[in-house]
Amino acid sequence: MYSLLLLAALPLALASPREVRQASTTASAPATTPTAPYASDDPNDSFYDQFNAPGAVPAPQRGSTGGNILGPDNKPLDMQNPDVLAPPSTDEGDLDNSKWPFALSHNRLQKGGWARQQNVHDMPIATALAGVDMRLEAGAIRELHWHTSAEWSYVIAGSCRISSVDQLGRNYIADIYPGDLWYFPAGIPHYLQGLNDTADGCEFLLVFDSGEFSEEDTFLLTDWLAHVPKEVIAKNFQVDISLFDHIPAQELYIFPSVVPPPLAQTAVDDPNGNVPDAFSYAFSQVPATPLRGGSVKIADSRTFKIATNIIVAEVTINPGAMRELHWHPTQPEWTYFLSGESRLTSFAASATARTFNYQAGDIAYIPPAYGHYIENLGNTTVKYLEIFNTDIYQDISLTQWLALTPPEIVQAHLKLPLDVIQAFNTSKGTVV
Ligand SMILES: *[C@@H]1O[C@H](CO)[C@@H](O)[C@H](O)[C@H]1NC(C)=O
Ligand SMILES: *[C@@H]1O[C@H](CO)[C@@H](O)[C@H](O)[C@H]1NC(C)=O
Ligand SMILES: *[C@@H]1O[C@H](CO)[C@@H](O)[C@H](O)[C@H]1NC(C)=O
Ligand SMILES: *[C@@H]1O[C@H](CO)[C@@H](O)[C@H](O)[C@H]1NC(C)=O
Repeated sequence: MYSLLLLAALPLALASPREVRQASTTASAPATTPTAPYASDDPNDSFYDQFNAPGAVPAPQRGSTGGNILGPDNKPLDMQNPDVLAPPSTDEGDLDNSKWPFALSHNRLQKGGWARQQNVHDMPIATALAGVDMRLEAGAIRELHWHTSAEWSYVIAGSCRISSVDQLGRNYIADIYPGDLWYFPAGIPHYLQGLNDTADGCEFLLVFDSGEFSEEDTFLLTDWLAHVPKEVIAKNFQVDISLFDHIPAQELYIFPSVVPPPLAQTAVDDPNGNVPDAFSYAFSQVPATPLRGGSVKIADSRTFKIATNIIVAEVTINPGAMRELHWHPTQPEWTYFLSGESRLTSFAASATARTFNYQAGDIAYIPPAYGHYIENLGNTTVKYLEIFNTDIYQDISLTQWLALTPPEIVQAHLKLPLDVIQAFNTSKGTVV
């Protein structure tokens, strides 16, 4: 086997690229007996359009397999998840659930806003990251707090003010707008407040670098002081105990307040200076890189320096296009869909693969090294965030890998004509 391959490769190594291309267009793939049967040529398109056509009755049927449904069924869910009801036949084995809609999360309603979360208890595969969708009305405050995980955020709508003080007493305050980011390292205290300029308050996505994170387990100023003897509080601040007559007996979490004055009037002079690396990043101002089938832009610790544990790629996929087959070498991906209709197949090795459909407001999770793609199934742009628990964005493109491998080796696996393999793009397509 080895010597045969070497003999085949030798003349090519000596030939110029032009000669190689000419030789290969005339040579056909070797007519050997296949070591494994060929994969079927039948397509396995999503039934998204069929299931969503007027009067359609979604059925778990593909070709001659499956059958219709006689029993009760949740038809709206079938229409949203055609590749779950009638999966492509390439799906196999038992891969953990990788879809969670925030619409299924418990929602904590407070005066001033709400918050709903997804963590490992909702989606057990998502061990490395958790997310929260939070709304603050104009003036409302997410109270002064801290937590054991780092906090990363993407503003979905409206605007909010953030403020923090680090371990060296250096402060930070900023107003954040749609498509912009903030980041607080683990344990660093902060508050958030809805503004009243681009909208009535704000809604934002929060992501934490632990799948176990829970919004119910953050360290709140009021909760702490409600659990410290009053004379200790008075001794700590060196003031009279009666001044603490009106501190809350329980946590406030989210509560209404007045819209703050402009930033310059709110900022507190800090004799220790401000934090050296900004806790926010004007990601909305970063131009996206246009791609064949969409666009991408990345914010990781090379540009948003403080964000060493959570990074993002904001991706758009045009109708008919797809995020190419790829994987992330060591990083789990927590994905948030902002618009469009899509399908994603996650490949877990050992003949195990499962396909899911996603809509705006849904979360996907892909463990490290799992091969995947995201295909736009609809007539509108799919926009989503690939979020990673790491410092630098990394991915491996299947096409680029094969384009930069000896073509005879690729041919020995896939039986493609050599000139087709040699025409594979050596640059990543990312969205094609
Ligand atoms: C796609 O689905 C059909 C059923 O319609 C199945 O027979 C075929 O093998 C599938 N194709 C692949 C590539 O698996
Ligand atoms: C927000 O601004 C609108 C329009 O200027 C105003 O009507 C509204 O009262 C403001 N809301 C708050 C809470 O200040
Ligand atoms: C997308 O457009 C095609 C062709 O015009 C149509 O058949 C299909 O129903 C549309 N799908 C959606 C989701 O609107
Ligand atoms: C290869 O990919 C690069 C980057 O996506 C693109 O600019 C270029 O046009 C592609 N080349 C061909 C021949 O398609």
